[in-house]
Formats: sequence, C-alpha cells, structure tokens
Amino acid sequence: MKDILIAPSILSCDFLRLGDEIRDVEEAGADLIHIDVMDGHFVPNITIGPMFVEALRRINKKPLDVHLMIDNPAQYVQEFARAGSDIITIHAEADNHLFRTLDVIKESGAKAGISFNPATPICLLDHVIQIVDLVLIMTVNPGFGGQKYIPSMAEKISEAKKKIDKAGRYIDLEIDGGIKAVNAKEVVEAGGNILVMGTEIFHSGDYRKKIEEVRNKIGR
Ligand code: DX5
Ligand code: ZN
Repeated sequence: MKDILIAPSILSCDFLRLGDEIRDVEEAGADLIHIDVMDGHFVPNITIGPMFVEALRRINKKPLDVHLMIDNPAQYVQEFARAGSDIITIHAEADNHLFRTLDVIKESGAKAGISFNPATPICLLDHVIQIVDLVLIMTVNPGFGGQKYIPSMAEKISEAKKKIDKAGRYIDLEIDGGIKAVNAKEVVEAGGNILVMGTEIFHSGDYRKKIEEVRNKIGR
C-alpha cells in the first residue's frame, strides 16, 4: 500500500464534465476524491451538498473524502454518510460538541476527521485524539481553491504528527490548501500523509503527468 496518498479536490475541476473529470483523475493515479462542502456561513463560498455526493458515489471507484466547511455540521453528518461518504471531516471551530458529532460520524459507518483552520491552536487535538481517524491541517484559510500555502503551517503539521505518533493508533494526517509539486516534499517531511490538491492537478492539463511529478518530488 502507498504510504502517501494524493487527494485531488474537485473544487477546481470542470463541473460541466464532472463524471469524466472523476474518471480521468482516478485513472491518472488519484488515491481519494476530496469534496469541499461550503455553506456560505462558515466560509464565504457556497458549493455542493449530499445529493452531489450521492451522484458521485455511482461513478467513483476511490474513497470519497468529504470536507465539511459548514456551521452546525452535526445537523448534516448523517445525511452525508448515507450519501456514501467514506471520510467525513468537520471543523474544530464549527461545533461546540465535537465528541458527540465525531461519534455520530463513526456510528454512521464513515471515518471521522477533524480539521483546524490556520489560526486554530492544535492543542485541542489532545482531547479528541482517541476518537478521530483523520486530522486535517488547513494550510490556507478555507473557502477557495488556488490560494497561497502558508509556510508557517509546516511547524503545525509537525506538532500534529507528534501528537498522532504518541496516540498509539493509526490516524491519517491530511494537508489542504496551496499544495503543489514544489512544496509537497516539505509537507510530507513535516508528517503529512494525505495531500489535497485542487488547482495544481485540475489546472495542469495532464493529470497523470502532474501526479507523477508530485510522486517524484516526494520520492514515494
Ligand atoms: C479550500 C479547500 C481546498 C481547496 C484546495 O478551502 O478546502 O480543498 O480545494 O485547493 P488548492 O489545492 O487549489 O489550494
Ligand atoms: Zn478541502
């Protein structure tokens, strides 16, 4: 099994050709399909909902990695699970009852992830680390594709990795925002094992070539 996974974010794909885009990127070597759900409240942008996940479920072969950038995620996690999400990630800033919501995600059969905005302290992870399956570190302020990676986040990734290693159970460390072939190695060296890439892959013109370039740069 590959130890570093590449998760193209469909936020930057051509929505008019969505089915073809998913097939193309899966054939090109994608390991997961990253789906950005935005509600216009938690982040300024609005994207898609559970119906969309359900439609994708009928064509995709790789796991669906659903990133909820929404307020009150507890209201929607079961619906996203029923729609066929394999991983459901909620934001630490968006829910006052993280334990409960993470539990609901797990009970519904999906893997439960927790995400941290760039300015949110990672120490909160200590209190939920025994129940999460995935930690997502935002390396841009969420809301839009194509933003610039915040370099100081490398230290935060390392901190999260240390906490995960101490936890004594398997937890993925996903990195999202401004990840490109040029900084992928830095992010992996800091401890990330799932790399989300939107514009870098979907605006590249050649998905296979781009994924190969990223794999060459990280050497795995
Ligand atoms: C940003 C989203 C990201 C976004 C990444 O709020 O969570 O998943 O699609 O896009 P790039 O790779 O272009 O920064
Ligand atoms: Zn995302």
